[in-house]
Amino acid sequence: MHTKLHVAIIMDGNGRWATLRGLPRLAGHRTGAKAVRQVIEAAPELGVGVLTLFAFSAANWKRPAEETDALMALFAAHLESEREECLINGVRIRVIGRRDRLPQNVRDSIVRTEQETAAGRELEVRLAVDYSAREAIAQAAANASIPRALGPDVDLLIRTGGEQRLSDFLLWECAWAEFVFTKTLWPDFGAADLAAAIADFRARDRRFGAIPQHPIGDTMQLTL
Ligand code: IPE
Ligand code: IPE
Ligand code: MG
Repeated sequence: MHTKLHVAIIMDGNGRWATLRGLPRLAGHRTGAKAVRQVIEAAPELGVGVLTLFAFSAANWKRPAEETDALMALFAAHLESEREECLINGVRIRVIGRRDRLPQNVRDSIVRTEQETAAGRELEVRLAVDYSAREAIAQAAANASIPRALGPDVDLLIRTGGEQRLSDFLLWECAWAEFVFTKTLWPDFGAADLAAAIADFRARDRRFGAIPQHPIGDTMQLTL
């Protein structure tokens, strides 16, 4: 069996998913939250040990208050409603990012969820909320604790929604990550999409600067 993977996902495309259907953007965020559940449920059997999900970036505060308020309410509601299910399934929840700008009820839900799920060993879910990789790195550097303060190396980074950029997510941890960019919008992403991305990842030859293990492919013979 392979060692457990760290998969990170930039969950993008909620707004466009809703707009395409003539719905308010919030409808996309709501449906996106259901996709989160699907992916968390599917992850352990696909060999994922750590799943880091980009839910809200430090730059997302630039959005109208109506949207950021609704997103904060959605986080609190989902942390509350999913906590029991996480406990039953051995899912540990951790939240990364700044806490001081979050509403008090979201902070309370985070603390309770982190405490109650702390013994989960099947899967660790790291939810990035009010997160900026640059801020995280600068803070870790100021405390002289970069490897300890930041997360484990990312094996596979997936971004939905068609954009091909990192948007200030896990800059340090993605040093050797493999990337999968998909046009699928986040609310449409499910277990099969995660499985496909991981299959793509497993077919790649990660060299970390060394020479290829399979220089001309598995099926060809080297005839020198
Ligand atoms: C990702 O979807 C969710 C958040 C950033 C909170 P978006 O809301 O960015 O959706 P698009 O990119 O506008 O479609
Ligand atoms: C990145 O998506 C942040 C999250 C998915 C939470 P954005 O939609 O905010 O990124 P940009 O603005 O397109 O780079
Ligand atoms: Mg977006």
